Amino acid sequence: MERLIVALDFNNLADAQKCVLELGDSVVYYKVGMELYYACGSEIIRFLKDRGKKVFLDLKLQDIPNTVAHACSVLTELGADMLNVHGVGGAKMMKEAVKAVRTKAEALGISAPKVIAVTVLTSMDEGQFSRVKYRNSIPEQEVALAKLAQSCGLDGVVASPMEAAMIRRACGEDFLIVTPGVRPAGAALNDQSRVATPEGAIKNGATHIVVGRPITQAENPAASAKAILASLN
Ligand code: C5P
Repeated sequence: MERLIVALDFNNLADAQKCVLELGDSVVYYKVGMELYYACGSEIIRFLKDRGKKVFLDLKLQDIPNTVAHACSVLTELGADMLNVHGVGGAKMMKEAVKAVRTKAEALGISAPKVIAVTVLTSMDEGQFSRVKYRNSIPEQEVALAKLAQSCGLDGVVASPMEAAMIRRACGEDFLIVTPGVRPAGAALNDQSRVATPEGAIKNGATHIVVGRPITQAENPAASAKAILASLN
């Protein structure tokens, strides 16, 4: 059940709360991204934690190592179960992020949130990617950043389900691969490019799938979440 993470992409607390209550026991893990976090900050995290839910705080931090480390320390205190930084922020930034999270968690006597690195956004296709002038193709970039993140002590990556199998081969079994860009067969792609079905993502080696609009904008979100979970079993 924890393999499904529902993206709460709302611009206010009330709509997010309504969605969580509607989904009830069918969903355990939620992703709070920048839209909702900028709208209501720690309130949504408290709301989720009070209901026994897990929280992936998807704020995609990227800044100088000192700034990211201090931000990670604050997010650990807020109660995130998982948080992320951009892999292109570099090795020093990633190492400082992990160190700050683990130090803060130890001081608080809590288990440390998982820290994962964003590789290449799932909305990017090769056409868009070539214009930002990285030297690698998308799969090469994903694997390179995954290996760098692993060498810096991170717990895993956010990556496209299309590259999950390559990352699994490169990074071994004990590495989280969280894949957005997941669409049940026939669902609208919206702005996503490099997508797979929920079962395809898991088959490719994803440990968690992130699904937003196909659940949150469905006529019956709970039924949609249950259908996705059923397809994973
Ligand atoms: O609605 P949809 O299922 O496309 O939502 C995907 C979620 O995953 C969004 O919240 C988006 O910000 C996030 N995400 C992504 N691609 C990444 C990292 C995060 O789509 N590489």
